[in-house]
Amino acid sequence: MNTFYVTTPIYYPNSEPHAGNAYTTIAADVLARYHRLKGYEVCFLTGVDEHAANVLNAAKEEGLTPQEYCDKIAPTFVNLWERLNISHDIFFRTTSDIHKRGAQKFLNVLYENGDIYKDKYEGYYCISCEKFFAEKELTDDKICPDHKIPLQWLEEENYFFRLSKYADRLLAHFNENPDFVYPETRRNELLSFLESGLQDISISRASLSWGIPFPFDPEHIIYIWIEALSNYITALGYETDSDQFQTFWPADVHMMGKDITRFHALFWPAMLMAADLPLPKHIVGHGWLTKDGEALSKTRGIFVDMDGDIATYGVDAFRYYLLREFSFGNDGDYRPSRLHERYNADLANDLGNLLNRVLGLLNKNFDVIPEPTTPGEFDDEIKTLAHDTLESLDSHMQTFAYDIALETIWEFVRRINRYVQQTQVWTLAKPETKPRMGTILYNSLEALRFISALIFPFIPDTADKIQRQIGSTDSDYTLEWGRLKVGQKVAKGEPIFPRVDLKKEEPPQKTGKTKSEEQSKQGKTDLISFTDFQRMDLRVGCIISAESIQGADRLLKLIVDIGTERRQVVAGIAEHYRTDSLIGKQVIVVVNLEPATIRNVESQGMVLAASSDSVVLTTPETEVPLGTQVR
Ligand code: MSP
Repeated sequence: MNTFYVTTPIYYPNSEPHAGNAYTTIAADVLARYHRLKGYEVCFLTGVDEHAANVLNAAKEEGLTPQEYCDKIAPTFVNLWERLNISHDIFFRTTSDIHKRGAQKFLNVLYENGDIYKDKYEGYYCISCEKFFAEKELTDDKICPDHKIPLQWLEEENYFFRLSKYADRLLAHFNENPDFVYPETRRNELLSFLESGLQDISISRASLSWGIPFPFDPEHIIYIWIEALSNYITALGYETDSDQFQTFWPADVHMMGKDITRFHALFWPAMLMAADLPLPKHIVGHGWLTKDGEALSKTRGIFVDMDGDIATYGVDAFRYYLLREFSFGNDGDYRPSRLHERYNADLANDLGNLLNRVLGLLNKNFDVIPEPTTPGEFDDEIKTLAHDTLESLDSHMQTFAYDIALETIWEFVRRINRYVQQTQVWTLAKPETKPRMGTILYNSLEALRFISALIFPFIPDTADKIQRQIGSTDSDYTLEWGRLKVGQKVAKGEPIFPRVDLKKEEPPQKTGKTKSEEQSKQGKTDLISFTDFQRMDLRVGCIISAESIQGADRLLKLIVDIGTERRQVVAGIAEHYRTDSLIGKQVIVVVNLEPATIRNVESQGMVLAASSDSVVLTTPETEVPLGTQVR
């Protein structure tokens, strides 16, 4: 069986995890789930990096020993991973005995191979990065550029690792394996760092007691980064050369943020070379999650309200937003309003409404899933698209392009919405067309089953909900068309993404002026706020019938399908449109307008039109799925 080993960084447990840590872990989880789905034997490792100076400081502040402090914080990571549906196989702690013994064995091997020597070290150090800064990296004020804290001057007798010895081999490895580091921008950065020459690195700390002692000199503590990197092998049982180690090493993917690619793509491979071990296949460094342009940071107290957003929108919406919104290699600004929009547009509307609509039609017209006896227009196109989507997904996953992978899946979702629309399946309930209706509904439901498998790695809860609603008792995530079982009962269909009203306003732009000051400066006194505008729920609907209203020459009674339901709307367009010319026309409907009775006819919304001497209905430029939000 093919194997797949994916890791996240081990996080510093100096405080509870934040959304940036969640981002990395979710990205790794997608890979783990995706490979399990494809039949790989997977090992997914995550954990905490406990011997950090910041842990020591945080523990002191609370009057705890560092071990007690870690014992308190480590479970908050496990807890978050559970809430986020992270499917890790190992949660690893570097205070575990297996890690201590494994790290010491690793250091011993490097020492015995002659790659470790003792020398004096002096330089500026950041305790949050846990790294020394080279002379050329220093600014005048000696502040860490990432953590904005003063660097500390350290002078010590240190052990050094002969990194310089491996520069040529590393360079050759980079050149022979162009896909060793993702994305390419990061690879290029590392390559130019490598080409400018490598110096040996200090790998011990004499002044600390919180850490793992050198096996050959217990007076010295192993530098945290060296010890931490070795977790990728110690967690598998490197110490005893276990079966698990033999099965899974080398790692397929080390997933991390861009800040720590140098350690993983240069220092770690060089140490593995020194220990005669094979190198990981891919080092993947994603961009940072930012808040108002600043990187999230425990040290600097920059957070997003991850818990609040998960409580409002659900875990899957949070996962979906992170993976769909940002291009993986680039930084991305976390904005709750965008999460809200993605929730409504992609999840509730495109996917949720499709499921509801198909289940509604099926339950109304059939007792169980009907047999697809009557092929017709568009059926083959749908099947082909299902397989093409799978192929695209495969290739996007190879390059960690999560956003494009999801967009490709959603193109398929939107195509199925159009299929339902184009075939006008709801009009086919008559006996002579019912077999065709059954076939279209079978295909739509099979498409939903197929979609549930495609989305499973990204939003697993939703995939499970879809499977349950389409009547699968054991979820069938096989990526082959036509597996849906005929004769199965389907559920009534509960909304999988219930409506959420926007509760928070985005902070106004920082102009230093009040809103009314701004408005009067612009000479505008009747502006509405963005929130006022957002209260309007505008949807695309399709007119399915139009008739005149007795005694009201200018009015028409329209029935408009808005995807989830049909609305009766009274519109003042009788002088401008013939009733038969309106059927099938897509229009924009205000769906949350208070109902009104006009000439004894109830109007449950309003259709928009440009209105001057003539009245022209507003329609989407091209056909879109019914119920699509207009904003
Ligand atoms: N302990 C080291 C890693 C050792 S791995 C052998 C460490 N820990 S950390 O707690 O600082 O977490 C670093 C990782 O968290 C980053 O590489 C990244 O994966 C993730 N993130 C931390 N802040 C982040 C953002 N603002 N945005 C996205 N990811 C972020 O470094």
